[in-house]
Amino acid sequence: MSPVQTNNLIDGKQTAEDIKAEIAIEVASLRVAGEKVPHLAAILVGHDGGSETYVRNKVLACERVGFQSTLLRYEDDISEADLLAKVNELNNDPEIDGFIVQLPLPAHINPEKVIEAIRPEKDVDGFHPMNIGRMVAGLPALLPATPSGIVELLSRWGIKTSGKHCVVIGRSNIVGTPVSILLAKNLDTANCTVTLCHSRTQNLAEICRTADIVVAAIGRPEFVTADMVRPGAVVIDVGTTRVADANKKSGYTLKGDVNFAEVAPLASAITPVPGGVGPMTIAMLLLNTLRAAKGEIYPKSGS
Ligand code: GUN
Repeated sequence: MSPVQTNNLIDGKQTAEDIKAEIAIEVASLRVAGEKVPHLAAILVGHDGGSETYVRNKVLACERVGFQSTLLRYEDDISEADLLAKVNELNNDPEIDGFIVQLPLPAHINPEKVIEAIRPEKDVDGFHPMNIGRMVAGLPALLPATPSGIVELLSRWGIKTSGKHCVVIGRSNIVGTPVSILLAKNLDTANCTVTLCHSRTQNLAEICRTADIVVAAIGRPEFVTADMVRPGAVVIDVGTTRVADANKKSGYTLKGDVNFAEVAPLASAITPVPGGVGPMTIAMLLLNTLRAAKGEIYPKSGS
């Protein structure tokens, strides 16, 4: 628990619980109607500690809402061709409604090639170029989980976005780039003016200080400091870096991209790490799986 006590926390854990409870109700009614319950599969390659934790939490979350889940584990010497063959098996398995390949992958495997091999209608991570392209075009799509989780969090916490200046720090394909696109969309839950900052941005602190909403997704622990945040701004911290900590049983502490102790007293609202954006990613992944199972975005063949 953070030693800093504030009353401006955006409790992503609670919001994620609410979303999971809503999903569980839908799953229960599918079950009662004798219909197939959604089935999510996850491919995990290797033994990266962070990835193991994420995937374990995803599988546990599936059980909690009544989904079926399958975890497929491979050693980190699996060849790219073998991994692509596994992806293809899942693509063609009618039991599986959606699946993810946990990133990062070992250096000898091209992640873009793997992502492109996933059938868009089963791409519940929303990483496939078809889903990204449809998102950019404003067409129905399976949206990437962390960006849509951020938008959902802002919406459910009543944070006004229309016309606000949002500064996104970090341009990754998983978070920074897609969240900057979503937040700029003409939607009730978005409609921001967005500035996307990255490692080559000049005057980063100055730009951040003009933000009504800061989204920190740069993967550098405690990068955002008090001098970068305007008093009253909303701060969304996407970072989850493991930093060695001999005082912890696990041997590490999870650090966000925001120096919470400095920034929380200034912000009008802030997400903690852990317990902010992280649980929302999982909730949105489950929501995408439910959508995929129902054929909401891409109608199921035969329906
Ligand atoms: N690695 C870090 N975040 C994610 C995610 O949301 N999905 C996948 N597949 N890998 C990740």
